[in-house]
Formats: sequence, C-alpha cells, structure tokens
Amino acid sequence: MNATLTRYLTGITTTGTPHLGNYVGAIRPTVQASRRPGTQNFYFLADYHALIKCDEPARIQRSTLEIAACWLAAGLDPEHVYFYRQSDIPEIPELTWFLTCVTGKGLLNRAHAYKAQVDKNNAAGVDPDADVTAGLFMYPVLMAADIILFNAHKVPVGRDQVQHLEMARDMASSFNHLYGEHFTLPEAQIDEAVATLPGLDGRKMSKSYDNVIALFGPREQVRRQIFSIVTDSRAPGEPKEVEGSALFQIYQAFADAGETQALRKAYAQGIAWSDAKQLLFERIDREIAPMRERYDALVNNPAELEKILKAGAEKARAIATPFLGRLRHAVGLRNLADQPQAAGKGKAKAALPSFKQYREADGRHYFKLVDAGGALLLQSSGFASPQDAGRAVARLKQEGLAALGGAAALAEGVSEDQARAALAQLASG
Ligand code: TRP
Repeated sequence: MNATLTRYLTGITTTGTPHLGNYVGAIRPTVQASRRPGTQNFYFLADYHALIKCDEPARIQRSTLEIAACWLAAGLDPEHVYFYRQSDIPEIPELTWFLTCVTGKGLLNRAHAYKAQVDKNNAAGVDPDADVTAGLFMYPVLMAADIILFNAHKVPVGRDQVQHLEMARDMASSFNHLYGEHFTLPEAQIDEAVATLPGLDGRKMSKSYDNVIALFGPREQVRRQIFSIVTDSRAPGEPKEVEGSALFQIYQAFADAGETQALRKAYAQGIAWSDAKQLLFERIDREIAPMRERYDALVNNPAELEKILKAGAEKARAIATPFLGRLRHAVGLRNLADQPQAAGKGKAKAALPSFKQYREADGRHYFKLVDAGGALLLQSSGFASPQDAGRAVARLKQEGLAALGGAAALAEGVSEDQARAALAQLASG
C-alpha cells in the first residue's frame, strides 16, 4: 500500500432496507469521498455485525443485496475502491481472536451498547445480562479488526461510534506493545457537514423508530411517506417556521444554497404544507431517479453483484492475507519447520527500539523514537510531507544524535545517552 495515501474505511451493518437517512448519512458521503485524490477507500458490508442483532437469515441476505446495490447505484466504482463483504474476508474473524486475547474484559464492560442493555435490565429488575449475547459484548472487537486489518487512518462514522474507535485504538496499541509495531491507530471522522436526517416524526430517521422514507421504494410509496411528514397545524398563507421543521431539514439535505433560500422564503410567505411536501418529493426524486434504474438492475441480478463482491474480496485479501500471515508469525502461530527461534532470540528481535511515523490531525507528519517497551525517547516536530519526516529519520539512523538539529527533541526525562544508545542499538540490529 502506498504510504502517502490516507486510507478511509467504513462499513454498513446489513440488517435492513436502505432508507433516505442511510443515503444522506453514509452512502452519499462515502461515494463522494471515494473520488478525492490522495485517498484509498475501503467500504464494506458488515454482515458479521448483522448477526449480532438479527437472526433472520433471509433478511440478512436481502439487506446485503440491497445495500450493495445502493452503494453501486449511487456511483461507487468498485474498480477504484475496495468494496467487499465482511464475511468474505476470513482474516477478519481471525484477527478478532488475536485482539480478543489482548483486550481487557473491563474495556468491553464500558462499551455503550452493552452498558445500555445492562442498564435497561437493571431498571427492569431482571438479570443484568438478560438478552446480552457474547456477540453484543464482543462487537467492538470485531469492529476493531475490520478497521486495523487494513491499517485505516480515518473511519467516517456517526457520533455513536466514536467510543468504538477509541477502543480500536486501545486494542491496536496493546497488540503493538506486545508484538511490535503492526497497526496504525485509526481515528474517527465525524463529518459535521453530513446531516443527521430527521424522520417522519422529527426524531432521527431510523428503522427502529419506524419513521423512515424509503430510498428506492416505488415512487408512490415514497410520495406517500413524504406526505406523512409531521408538520404543525398552520394553514396555507400563515407564515411557517423553518426552525425545527423536519420537512425543511430533509429538503436542505438535497437542495443547494439557492434552493434552500427559496424554500425559506416560501415558508415565511406561508407556503401550504402540501405544496412544500410536493416540492420536497420532486427534489428528492430528481436526485434519486437517475440511480433507480441501476439499482433495480443490480437487485434483479444478484449473480452479478455476487461477482462484484467476490472480486472486491479478492482485492482486499491481497492485502489482508499476507498481513495476517505476519501477525500469525508475530504471535507465535508458526510453521514448526521454520528456523526454530530460541525463546531468547525472538524476544531480542522484538526488543529493539523503533521509529514510528504518523500523521496528526493538524495534517503534518511526525515521527517518534520509542524504546523496546514503547516508552517515548524522541519526539519530532511537524513535517510537511511523510518524505520529509522519512528523510529526518534516515539521517538519525545514519548519523546518530548529531543529526537531531531542530528535527526532533528528547522526551522529558530522557538523557542524550539513552537516545544515543537506542540509535546505536537500531543501527546494529
Ligand atoms: N458498527 C457500525 C455501525 O453500526 C458498522 C461497522 C462495522 C463499521 N464495522 C465497522 C463502521 C468498521 C466503521 C468501521 O454503524
């Protein structure tokens, strides 16, 4: 993988029929993001995650088909991105196990989704673990494996997933600490510009609230749903508030600035709710209609979709399989006929100091030197490019501490001798 590209990765759980909220919140922004230069994009159907909340096989199969078709119909180019189904990547559950073994149970006890269920049970006076499967408990580990298997830098998700990203970082760090620097620490990316779409009743559009607008449903159904958006009782001619109007917010998610301004004015001038709804229906239809044909064609040709997903899995596994091979070796799942490593020798190799290069939220590129135990020895200043940072690292390796200059500084409490010794160890390792 090209080290200068920023890798984005996100998944959608395959438990339902994609609705307008999924489109605005996940499908459309990921398709747009996939076209940005300098990025590499991994998008997948999280069907292992689906098993955690759904025990209807036909529904999972259908949902996988529909969400895949939806992503492609919205313009995702499977040649250009990594587009795959989670369950086609056996490296994911294998890595899940590796991570399971370095993750404290206490960390998982704190996960919101699990805790919410326990709180609910406690409130109801039933067993705290009632209806809690081990799958629900392990959800964050599976998600961490999804992400760090591909060393993603950025993970576009909703706010509710931020804790899962923190946990993924924790798991990646634990593994790195024990077995060497294998994983990049991923970051959540919350896009403020991506609206959380309100549903028919004004709450967040969500299947669990039964307040959704279908995405590729029959036009008549979509129209009916739009006409059932809850509004207040103001009559035609009475000025209306855009503040708190679900109808207005949904319109805004599709309209450009000029169109939004025009509706704002129409509200002030007392547009009839039925006219506003018709406007909304037409605006949404204008964006969705051109995708409908492709969507229908894909959904009606599952074999074609299957082929696309299989090809995507093959492409993703070209990365995942060799990487997992290295991880297996790192943890000690090794071919017995391989050069037997004396326990001490294996340790000695893992016990070298190392340079780590990374990029911070400020967009600049950094490196640090850590000792075998992961303690910080040197911290660099920010570089404009990874190449610049890499050159500074190369000079430190070649010339030792003399090359420090302004490129990096000793960490607090670290002596020059310690840093010099670490560099020497690296040079001889
Ligand atoms: N948990 C995510 C959700 O429900 C879906 C998901 C699974 C995911 N694995 C992921 C998202 C990895 C981002 C990265 O929305």
